[in-house]
Amino acid sequence: MKSSFPRQRLQTITLAAFALAGTAFLANDGLAETSAEAEAATSTFHHRALWIKNPSTETVLSWTTREEGQNHRIHYDTESRGGDVSAYTHEQPTFADGPITMKDDDWDWVEPAFYHHAHLSGLEPDTDYYVVFASDDAVSDEFYFRTAPDEDVEFAILFGGDSRIAGMDPYEHTDRQKMNLRIRQLFEDHENIIALAHGGDYCMLADWRYIEPWLTDHELTTASDGRLLPIIPARGNHDRGIGFEEKFTWPDLDRNYYYETHLSPTVSLITLNTETSLGGDQRDWLGNTLSEIRPERRWVLSQYHRPAFSSVRSMQDGAGRRNNWVTLFEEHNIDLGLESHDHALKRTLPIRSSAPDMENGIIYIGDGGLGVPQRNPDTSRWWLQEPGFAKSAHHVHVLDFGHEELHVRAYGMEGDILDDFTVEPRVTITAGQ
Ligand SMILES: [Fe+2]
Ligand SMILES: [Fe+2]
Repeated sequence: MKSSFPRQRLQTITLAAFALAGTAFLANDGLAETSAEAEAATSTFHHRALWIKNPSTETVLSWTTREEGQNHRIHYDTESRGGDVSAYTHEQPTFADGPITMKDDDWDWVEPAFYHHAHLSGLEPDTDYYVVFASDDAVSDEFYFRTAPDEDVEFAILFGGDSRIAGMDPYEHTDRQKMNLRIRQLFEDHENIIALAHGGDYCMLADWRYIEPWLTDHELTTASDGRLLPIIPARGNHDRGIGFEEKFTWPDLDRNYYYETHLSPTVSLITLNTETSLGGDQRDWLGNTLSEIRPERRWVLSQYHRPAFSSVRSMQDGAGRRNNWVTLFEEHNIDLGLESHDHALKRTLPIRSSAPDMENGIIYIGDGGLGVPQRNPDTSRWWLQEPGFAKSAHHVHVLDFGHEELHVRAYGMEGDILDDFTVEPRVTITAGQ
């Protein structure tokens, strides 16, 4: 076991991150430190928030420790307590702790560690919760997160996929760090952003030597005032290992990883799983869920890893998603499809019944640009014609859910706007209802 090697690599990463972030990063109070620094001060690190079903009232908070420990919990309150553990009104013990699975190759790169997950429920909607992550006597700096709204207000989320690296070296990930710093800048600049939907392919493999640096990089998305950016995860073809389940866990974990996130009374995000059977139970669940929620929601979106309308892979590649899911998307008129996996920026023209339909079609965006090397899309295929397009460019989308329109913008690594369009609502729901 090369115990000193990973630390050196993490230090290098931290310095690179500082250089990339510039003064804004250096000026913070230490609340958004990356793992290597946090670990030096305390034994809790990889602090993060997970949203699955009802983010207005519940959140999973997760972290990592090197030692197993015994007493793992979150202290939290609706007011800042400055990290004074005894001052927080609420305390929630973890529901899941355990040793992170080590594969043979992991030992050459990373040290063993332990995962911890705590489930906070009964929360107040649209409220800032101040939290510290505690394992035995070790207590983190104070962070905070904001719960989702339970009223029909306007808000935004970020969407992106494919933050895995290209080669087998877990530490060749500068582009992922740059995109995470872009995400943080967007999170800080747009006060109304409440979460990040991730379309899958976090790492080369769901093994600890890849997941540890991914979690370290994910901390770069935490705002400089300590605000955590909750993640809504989809499972990709590189995420099939047990490490994915140790990273994203909730109390009644459905290992199929398809679910509806109730972002507000009028907005739902449906996450599907392309790595299990597309038909059968998943298709039944999708049809039933869409029947139930579509009449009540102004905006219904779906994210899933492998695209129905690829920008790079063969046109036939998406047939399974088109046959099983797109038919239901069209029957129930979803508003936008969020795709990943192909590693290019795309927007399809509006599609219905396997043809362009400028009036009533569904637009699909994607295809994964959170740091993975970009590919060259095939721009000749019919679904990528104007107003659709595809190009090779790292990107993350901001989705603004307004009362009158859904505003979609794609941002590049340097903050340049690479796509900008709006979608009108299909369902009339009076603002404020
Ligand atoms: Fe990918
Ligand atoms: Fe993929």
